[in-house]
Amino acid sequence: MRLFVPLTLLVACGGSPPSPPVDPAARRAAWHAALQAEVGAGWDQPVPGVDAADPAVGAEVYAKTCRGCHGDRGAGDGPRAPALNPPPGNLRTTALPEAGRLAAIRAGSPGTAMAAYGKRLPDDQLLAVTRYLRELRD
Ligand code: HEC
Repeated sequence: MRLFVPLTLLVACGGSPPSPPVDPAARRAAWHAALQAEVGAGWDQPVPGVDAADPAVGAEVYAKTCRGCHGDRGAGDGPRAPALNPPPGNLRTTALPEAGRLAAIRAGSPGTAMAAYGKRLPDDQLLAVTRYLRELRD
């Protein structure tokens, strides 16, 4: 039974021409929608643990782990950004609510430079960097 879905997909995709380029805004919107589906009812709610997390710890995590792509103030203009396609999101203006931002950080964006930090950072650092992102908001 476990093989059923992948085999069906293989058969369905076999021989089809390469898929056309995806509109970048539509691709990002699809990622956001997938995050929202994963988070469910908590999407617009306060995220447990973020209020109590230490923004100073978050600032350190951000400087060490995120700034190279997302830039000093989260505008998406870090030194690595020009080489990235899709480019890093703008964390100052992102449409994602806080629960969505944390879900994005945990899960990453498959097929892009945005890694799944849920596997790389301990939970207190994930909550702290999410808390710190509030300070970057426009
Ligand atoms: C190697 C480059 C890179 C690093 C390092 C990186 N990101 Fe990202 N990030 C990206 C890219 C590229 C995207 C856009 C992904 C997409 O559009 O699918 C992104 C998207 C995001 C988003 C979603 C923004 C939106 O509106 O769609 C958040 C939130 C985020 N990153 C937070 C972080 C945090 C916090 C860190 C550090 C723990 C981090 N990122 C580290 C490249 C990076």
